[in-house]
Amino acid sequence: MCGIVGVVGKPAREVVLNGLKNLEYRGYDSAGIYLNDLQGNEYLTKAVGRISNLEEKLTPDEEGLVGIGHTRWATHGKPTVDNAHPHVSEDGRFYLVHNGVIENYAELKEKYLQDVDFKSTTDTEVVVQLVDKIAREKNLDAFSAFKEALKLVRGSYAFLLVDNTQPDHIFIAKNKSPMMLGIGDGFNIIASDAISVLDQTKTFIDLQDGDVADVTKDNVVIETIDGEKVERKPHTLDIDPNAASKGTYEFYMLKEIDEQPAVMRRLSQDYFDGDDVKVDPAIVDAMAQSDRIYILAAGTSYHAGLVGKNIIEEYADIPVEVGLASEFGYHFPKLSKKPFFIFLSQSGETADSRVVLKQVNERNLPSLTMTNVEGSTLSREATYTMLLEAGPEIAVASTKAYTAQIAVQAILAKAVGEKKNLEKAKNFDLKNQFALAAEGMQELVDGKEKIDELAKKYLSTTRNAFYLGRGVDYAVALEGALKLKEVSYIETEGFAAAELKHGTIALIEKGTPVITLINDPATADLTRGNIQEVESRGANVMTFVAKDFAREGDDVVLPQIDYYLSPLVTAIPAQLIAYYASKNKGLDVDKPRNLAKSVTVE
Ligand code: M6R
Repeated sequence: MCGIVGVVGKPAREVVLNGLKNLEYRGYDSAGIYLNDLQGNEYLTKAVGRISNLEEKLTPDEEGLVGIGHTRWATHGKPTVDNAHPHVSEDGRFYLVHNGVIENYAELKEKYLQDVDFKSTTDTEVVVQLVDKIAREKNLDAFSAFKEALKLVRGSYAFLLVDNTQPDHIFIAKNKSPMMLGIGDGFNIIASDAISVLDQTKTFIDLQDGDVADVTKDNVVIETIDGEKVERKPHTLDIDPNAASKGTYEFYMLKEIDEQPAVMRRLSQDYFDGDDVKVDPAIVDAMAQSDRIYILAAGTSYHAGLVGKNIIEEYADIPVEVGLASEFGYHFPKLSKKPFFIFLSQSGETADSRVVLKQVNERNLPSLTMTNVEGSTLSREATYTMLLEAGPEIAVASTKAYTAQIAVQAILAKAVGEKKNLEKAKNFDLKNQFALAAEGMQELVDGKEKIDELAKKYLSTTRNAFYLGRGVDYAVALEGALKLKEVSYIETEGFAAAELKHGTIALIEKGTPVITLINDPATADLTRGNIQEVESRGANVMTFVAKDFAREGDDVVLPQIDYYLSPLVTAIPAQLIAYYASKNKGLDVDKPRNLAKSVTVE
């Protein structure tokens, strides 16, 4: 969601602006920067819309040796200049940027700040005014006042605070919202995502919930809110900064779609020893002992979980329940006797999933997070982690993380099935299937012009569309529909193919696009029947069909792979058609309106 970058000890303007630009993919609707040159000059600039609008407002002399910047995705209050961060205290002393949500902001305002003239309608401004008030009334230095204020604050936050009476410090605090501290040579840098500042340093300290810190150019003091010193070891992040760049692509989304064969090959290398799957035995043992798996996730990751359910039940022979984290967190079902929890999350930061994991931990139950981001919160807080190894995913629409989640679930299913001595699992030649999937994905991305033509022909003016599928294709239909609607704004619904005639077929009229997926041997013929039903009512049907079931006239013939893994290849045309539908309409494919890459609020 929002992005944060702060730096102390080097000319800050470019560093902060570049960092914010690297976070643009997370989604935002206003931006701001505070600079202090340590000579008594300070500059606060904010703008609605893109960072380029902010840059236009900055005059050439606005520079600083300390800077904090922010991209805001509006939660409390409209996207206006007043509501953009940094927020400043009434007396102009403190400047604050914030990611997260302050749950008790109204209460704090009412109780402590009735005499303050607020400039914004945000929850964040309450905190900067509170710090200021405490500093003045209790005659405390900034760090002490900040910690006192935090004792009163309830909610999620990553805060950067500058006090212009000691401007060579940035005070920071973290609770539930991600924040990394980058260690430089003669400078230090803070960001909500390490990717944004990889050009500055590769040495990072992962701050934990409850940490506060006083950061100067060559020193970092980390404490708890109660003032106890905390030791956090720096580590080196081994990410190629180019992995997060667009290269020659116009949009990240296409780059990330194209990268999927390479991701499959990387997973083949890292999760296999010869032809054998290689998974931490502790994970395999814990899962093999369980009587039911609960997969929790949101959005695209939830859809990957629906595919994973089929794979795990087939090859590990354990019943699986898949839940939307946002629902599960507040309506826990009656659990089985030996549950095992799997959290699927590209970012590892999704607040809805964290709510569930917290309760799982309170009940002392085993959990595994499958995530793309090493050291992310869901990874740290779960018992075990398996990495997706998809490389940074920048486009808001998740693509390569989705297929990686399916692949990693398959690896785990095979490992657990083998541990249980199941013939099916032992005979499942997953390494070969991954090779076929990678080859098939490549063939499909190489044929992308065909998908572009379909998008131009059927999706350029339509208001709505449908996706149909049965079995695992139903799970992919849900994901295909999400992909298409989120980037092209075409209202799209995914259906179990036979369900359409139980109501929704009423919406089919002349020219309604219906994308139909056929990989399921058990129902291929029945789905053909469903195609007839919509075609006879005027629908423009597009068919993505596995080679074994393909007929003349099908639009995309999918390379044949194991039915349970077929979503790995079916996903490619589904992602591509969404991409082209959006691009052909001239939309900003990577940053669809109203969306954020990492949803760190509930
Ligand atoms: O980071 P996560 O995988 O936990 O994110 C969950 C959803 O917000 C995410 O999958 C979202 O639905 C996608 N960006 C949509 O493409």
